[in-house]
Amino acid sequence: MTPLYRLTIAFSFSMACWAAEPVGLSVFFQNSQAAPIKLLGEHRRFLQEVDITVSSPPSGTDLGIQPVQQSGEFAGLNWNGVQMVEEDWRPDGAGKFTRQRFYRGARWMKNPSSFQLWPMNANGIRIGLPLFAFTGLDELRTPADDGFVRRFVARQIALGCPAVNNCTGATFIAQALVQWRHNQRAEHRDVFIPSAAAKLCLIWTEQPGTCREVPVTHQAVPATPFGYGFVPALSVVNPPANGSHYQPGEAVTFRITLRDRAGNRLHPQGSLPTLADVVSGADPAGIRYFNPSIIPTLYYALKHREANTSVGLVGPVHKLKVSNRVLTIPEFFLPQAPTATTAADGFTGLAIAVPSPLIQFGLLPANTPVPDTVTFTIPSDAEAGTYVASFKGRREFAGEALNRGTTLEIKVGTNTPAPFVAKTGNCNTCHEDASAFSNVLHGISDRRVCFTCHSSLEFEPDNPLDIRVHTIHDRSRRFDANIRNCRQCHLTTPTGPARGILP
Ligand code: HEC
Ligand code: HEC
Ligand code: HEC
Repeated sequence: MTPLYRLTIAFSFSMACWAAEPVGLSVFFQNSQAAPIKLLGEHRRFLQEVDITVSSPPSGTDLGIQPVQQSGEFAGLNWNGVQMVEEDWRPDGAGKFTRQRFYRGARWMKNPSSFQLWPMNANGIRIGLPLFAFTGLDELRTPADDGFVRRFVARQIALGCPAVNNCTGATFIAQALVQWRHNQRAEHRDVFIPSAAAKLCLIWTEQPGTCREVPVTHQAVPATPFGYGFVPALSVVNPPANGSHYQPGEAVTFRITLRDRAGNRLHPQGSLPTLADVVSGADPAGIRYFNPSIIPTLYYALKHREANTSVGLVGPVHKLKVSNRVLTIPEFFLPQAPTATTAADGFTGLAIAVPSPLIQFGLLPANTPVPDTVTFTIPSDAEAGTYVASFKGRREFAGEALNRGTTLEIKVGTNTPAPFVAKTGNCNTCHEDASAFSNVLHGISDRRVCFTCHSSLEFEPDNPLDIRVHTIHDRSRRFDANIRNCRQCHLTTPTGPARGILP
C-alpha cells in the first residue's frame, strides 16, 4: 500500500466515524437573540437543549410579570391560569437582597407543544428537514416525550431590595422561560443540516408564526484540532509522600485534563483558558466558566447554563451525610472553601472554583493565567478513609453543549478504608439511558461526590444536597411518584423533615 493510499483510507475511515456519531444541538434565545453557530463536519444532529427567555427591560416599578404578559415577544401567548407559586429571598452578596417570584399554570406553560428547527438558506427559504422535538406536557411525563427535563415558567426578579420584605428602590425584571433538554430519542430525531444552510429557524408550536433565527456557518473537520464531545479527567500530580496513602496535613495536587470524545486535548497541558478568553469567545474549544449574568436559580431558571466550574474533595466516604455548614462569602474566597468539616459534620468537604473566585469577581484581572492544577491541603483533623475528588464543567462547542464531570478516588490515613453506604437510592428507576446521571445535570454518576459541593451557601441557602434533590422533584409535575413517599428514594427512614418540599 502506498503511504498516500493508506492515508486516504485512514482519513475516510475517520470521516466515517465522524459522520456516524450524531451530535446534539443546543440553542439559546434571549429576546430572540442567539449566538451564531459554526457547525463542524457532517453529522446527523438532534435537538438536545432548547432555551427561550424573554425578559422585560429593567424598571423601577413593581409590576409583577405584567411586562412580559402585556408587551414583547410573549404578549400573544395564552397566559390564562397563570399564578404565583412561590417567593424566594436571598442575600446578593453586596449588602442587599434579591427577591424572586415564580409563576406557573399559564396555558402556554401547560400545553403539549413541539419545536421544529428548520435549516434555511441565506434568502430565508427552508431547505432540508427540520430537527423535531415533542416537548410533552407540564403535568405528566409520557413515553411520547422527546425530552427528559421540561420547565416552562415565568419569574419576576427584584434586584437590590434593601431588606427582606422590602423592595423599595429595587430594579424589577420580568422574565418568561421555555426550558427543555436531554433528548431521549436522539437516534430517531437526528437529521443532516444541509451545507447550504445559512441560518436555523426555531418554530415553537405555541407561536407558529414566529421564527427565531440562529445564524450558522460550516467548518470542515480538520479546521479545528478537536471535535465534539466533552470528557474531563482528573489525575494526581504528587503521589502520597509515604508511597501508599496521603496523611492529614499533606497537600495533594490534581491535574484537570479536558478532552473531546476522540481524546484530543482541549487546552495545552499546564493551563486552562483565561476568563477573558472564555468570555470573549477567543477560546476555540468552547470551555465555559461561571455565568452569573443569567441569574440561575434552582429548578426554575437556567442552572444548566450556569457552568460553575469546580473541583471538590470529600471523605471519608463512610462518614458522608448532608453537610450542616453554611459557607460564608469570605470563605468562598479562601484557597479551598470548607463545605464540610470534621468538627461540624464528621467528614471533610472542600471545593475550589476554577478560575479562582478572585479572578471571577474581578479582584484579579480576567487575563490572569489559569493553571490546569488545583491543590487541596487535607485538614490536619481529617478522618482516615477513602476520599473522592470531583470535577464538573461545561463545554459549548460548534452547536453542542455538554455538562460533564469526573471523579477520582484517593486514600487518606489508611490503606484499608471502609465503603460508602448509601442512604438513598432507586434513582435509576427513572434515571436511565438519556436521563442517567452520566447524561443529566453534571454528568456525574458517582453519587458519593454529591456531598462535596452541596452545603448551604450564605448567598445560596438552597444549595444543600437534600434541598436540591427534594426541590427538583417536588416542583416538577413530571415526577411520576409521590414526593411524600420518602421510601421512593430513602433506603433507611430519614431522621428529619424533607427540606425543600412545599407544604
Ligand atoms: C419516579 C421517578 C424519579 C426518581 C425515582 C428519581 N428521579 Fe430525579 N428526576 C425525575 C424527573 C421526572 C426529573 C426531571 C424534572 C423536570 O422536568 O424538571 C428529575 C430530575 C432530576 C435531577 C435534575 C436533572 C437536571 O439535569 O436538571 C436530578 C439531579 C435528579 N433528578 C436526581 C435524582 C436522585 C439523586 C434520585 C434518587 C435519590 C432521583 N433523582 C430519583 C424523576 C425521578
Ligand atoms: C464539584 C462540585 C459539585 C458536585 C460534585 C456536585 N454538584 Fe450539583 N451543583 C454544583 C453547582 C456549582 C451547581 C450550580 C449549577 C452548575 O453550575 O452546574 C449545581 C447544581 C445542582 C442542582 C440544581 C439543578 C437545577 O436544575 O436546578 C442539583 C439538583 C444538584 N446540583 C445535585 C447534585 C447531585 C445529585 C450531585 C451528585 C451526582 C452533585 N450535584 C454534585 C456543584 C456540584
Ligand atoms: C426523589 C427522591 C427523594 C424523595 C422522594 C425524598 N428524599 Fe429525602 N433525600 C433525598 C436525597 C438524594 C437526599 C440527600 C442525602 C442522601 O442521598 O443520603 C435526601 C436527604 C434527606 C434528609 C437529610 C438527612 C438524611 O436523613 O438523609 C432528610 C431529613 C430527608 N431527605 C427527608 C425526607 C423525607 C421526610 C421524605 C418524604 C417526605 C423524603 N426525604 C423524600 C432524596 C429524596
